Amino acid sequence: MTDVLVVGGGGREHALVWKLRASPRVGRILCAPGNAGIAADAECLPVGADDVKGLADLAEREKIDLTVVGPEAPLTAGLVDELERRGLRAFGPNRAGAQLEASKAFTKDLLDEAGVRTAAYGTFDDADAAHAYLDRVGAPVVVKADGLAAGKGVTVAETLHDARAAVDSIMRDRVFGDAGARVVLEEKLPGEEASFIALTDGTSVLPLATSQDHKRIGEGDTGPNTGGMGAYSPAPVVTRELFDEVTTTVIEPVVATLRKRGIVFKGVLYAGLMIDRGRAGVLEFNVRFGDPECQPLLMRLRSDLLDVIDAVVDERLHEIELDWDPRPAACVVLAAPGYPGTPEKGATIRGLDEAATVADSYVFHAGTARSEDGAIVTSGGRVLGVTSLGDTIEHAVERAYEAAGKIDWPGMQLRRDIGRRAIARGA
Ligand code: AMP
Ligand code: GLY
Repeated sequence: MTDVLVVGGGGREHALVWKLRASPRVGRILCAPGNAGIAADAECLPVGADDVKGLADLAEREKIDLTVVGPEAPLTAGLVDELERRGLRAFGPNRAGAQLEASKAFTKDLLDEAGVRTAAYGTFDDADAAHAYLDRVGAPVVVKADGLAAGKGVTVAETLHDARAAVDSIMRDRVFGDAGARVVLEEKLPGEEASFIALTDGTSVLPLATSQDHKRIGEGDTGPNTGGMGAYSPAPVVTRELFDEVTTTVIEPVVATLRKRGIVFKGVLYAGLMIDRGRAGVLEFNVRFGDPECQPLLMRLRSDLLDVIDAVVDERLHEIELDWDPRPAACVVLAAPGYPGTPEKGATIRGLDEAATVADSYVFHAGTARSEDGAIVTSGGRVLGVTSLGDTIEHAVERAYEAAGKIDWPGMQLRRDIGRRAIARGA
């Protein structure tokens, strides 16, 4: 039996724990820090997801056979390097590989070297030079803080005035701290966004089923960006042709170029794409499963997740073929009032038991905690991810809304248009 530690405490980690629990080869599951829903399937321990030493100590003390890292922060902080140094197995890239998410300048350079389509760009560590470049290229232009900025470091500026203000707040006011020591300025690409998520063991590449998320808080893709308000799989925008093209012209060259630089990338490679007239350009990379894309993906995955992860860690991914439920899945995120700004916490969540009665559905927890009197209360921005399978995307979405409709707390936010684009395409 394999004892597993899952690092993180969001909806993605609940889905990972839920899916690992279904494996006959998994023994104990620990989760740090976890949440109130994860506690049903795993032993949750109060170690922060970015406490590298605390997590490595925990894995060592508990004789954990495999650590599965959910979020980017511990990967960027070198958790996998530390675990491997102690002779422990881990799923996720090392610190060098995690630069693909942690530094936009690193990624743009690597994409150039790999010959992958991406927006024209310049990288600057001096604000005056950045302004001079803006004078040359004009607007629209996209301004990106180089480092991790919790999804808030990107401004798509329609005017030079907005672009200049973004450069100044990143570089001079340092609103994202050291993440703003450098900026990337790039051409605005037209098109529709899609996520492309693949596994790699550093040599072989295995794309997952397609998926799509909804980044903006408001219906019709309006309002500020969030971590993701919903997701579905498959995503009809990624046609079979595009799927093959992205695999061979984006994912494979990136893995090979990393390897050429001495980086054996093991884990999840998630490309943020812009699709225009059937061709893909790369906007960004993440080095982990998307949240909430992970929830519908794992609900559709029939293969044993432990077998798949073991193959990545042991560098024999070429042996694996994934088995997917042909039915689509959709996830509707229920968020706290205030999100994506400062969320209100501590409200009692009603209706979880009723929601659990809806067929082919599961309520993944994200920002939830148990109060002293035993109630499940809100404790973060994104609170729950109601995820359902259906015969079509429309049917999956309908079921997710049926279950979501049974859940309530004061000020709960959700988007009513999850899957709209896919449904419009007749999926
Ligand atoms: P990123 O974190 O780089 O994916 O950027 C966040 C969001 O900004 C993306 O999901 C896109 O909506 C938008 N974005 C980033 N880069 C570009 C670009 N070059 N052209 C158009 N939109 C972009
Ligand atoms: N859903 C987008 C992300 O995980 O970054």
